[in-house]
Amino acid sequence: MHKPHVKAMAALLRRSQPRYDLYTVFGDCMEAIAIAMANSIDLRARAPREARYLDIVGRYPREILELFPQLLAELVRALEAGPGDVLGSLFHELDLHSKARGQYFTPYALSRCMAQATLGSRENVEAMIAQHGFVTAMEPACGAGSMVIALAEAMRDIGHNYQRHLHVTAIDIDPRAIHMAYVQLSLLHIPAHLMVGNSLSGEMQDNWFTPAHILGGWTARLSLRQRHEPVAETAQRATTVTAATSPSQGAVPPSHEPGASQRSMPRQLSLF
Ligand SMILES: C[S@@+](CC[C@H](N)C(=O)[O-])C[C@H]1O[C@@H](n2cnc3c(N)ncnc32)[C@H](O)[C@@H]1O
Repeated sequence: MHKPHVKAMAALLRRSQPRYDLYTVFGDCMEAIAIAMANSIDLRARAPREARYLDIVGRYPREILELFPQLLAELVRALEAGPGDVLGSLFHELDLHSKARGQYFTPYALSRCMAQATLGSRENVEAMIAQHGFVTAMEPACGAGSMVIALAEAMRDIGHNYQRHLHVTAIDIDPRAIHMAYVQLSLLHIPAHLMVGNSLSGEMQDNWFTPAHILGGWTARLSLRQRHEPVAETAQRATTVTAATSPSQGAVPPSHEPGASQRSMPRQLSLF
C-alpha cells in the first residue's frame, strides 16, 4: 500500500546526491518539517525552533529545499491510503539504518500484531476507558513511531477513537527518530508527548507535543487524572513491568476470563 509512496519519497531525496550527504539531508528534512508543524501550534519553544529552522534552510539551495514540501505531500498521500510507519520504511529504503549503526525499525505488520496483543479486546479497552477516562501508553524507544501508530490503528479497528481516548508518551535517544515520529503522529492526529532522552538514565533534553495533544487539552487531562487517581501510579508501574517482562500476556487480562471487566484495569500500556 505504501511502497509506491516510499519509492517516490526516496527518489526525491536522492536528487540531492551526490552533492549532499543523504543521511544529513534526510535528518534536516525531518527536523524542518517537524519544526514547521510544531511552531504552528506550540508556542513553548517557538523562538529557538524558528532559529534552528532558519539555520537548516540556510544550508541548502532552492532546488534542494523544494524537495522538502514535495516529500511531505507524498507522506500525506501515503498516510491517507492508511496508517503505517512510512518514514521508518523510507529510512530503510534509503539504507540509512546501516549508517545509523544498525537502527532497525520494527516492520509495521509485526507492530500491528504486538499492538493488538497489548491492547486486548474491545471489552478490555472499554473497561479501561470507563475506569480511567482514557488509555495511556508508554514507548521508551519509539524510533519513527511504528508501535504507537500500530496501537492507534488497533484501537480504531475495535471501534475506539484514538484521537479522543488514547495518549502516548514516547522517548528516543536519537533526535532524528523523534522528528520522524513527531511528523507521523502529528499527521495522524495522535495525542502524544515525545521526548528526546535516555530512557535508561531518565535524562530528557527536548519535548515535542503533537497538535492533537495541545488541541485536546491533554496536559490538563493528564494532570487531572493524576490528581484523582494518585494511587494508580503504583499499579501503573507494576503493569509496565508485567507487560515488559511477559509480552505474550500483554498488559490487559484476556476478555474471556470471568469478571475481567470488573477488575482494576491497567492505566498505562507499555509498548516495549
Ligand atoms: C530497534 S529501534 C526500535 C524503534 C521502534 N520501537 C520500532 O519498533 O520501530 C530502537 C530505538 O531505540 C532507541 N534507543 C536506543 N537506546 C535508547 C535509550 N537508552 N533511550 C531511548 N531510546 C533509545 C534508538 O535510537 C532506536 O530508535
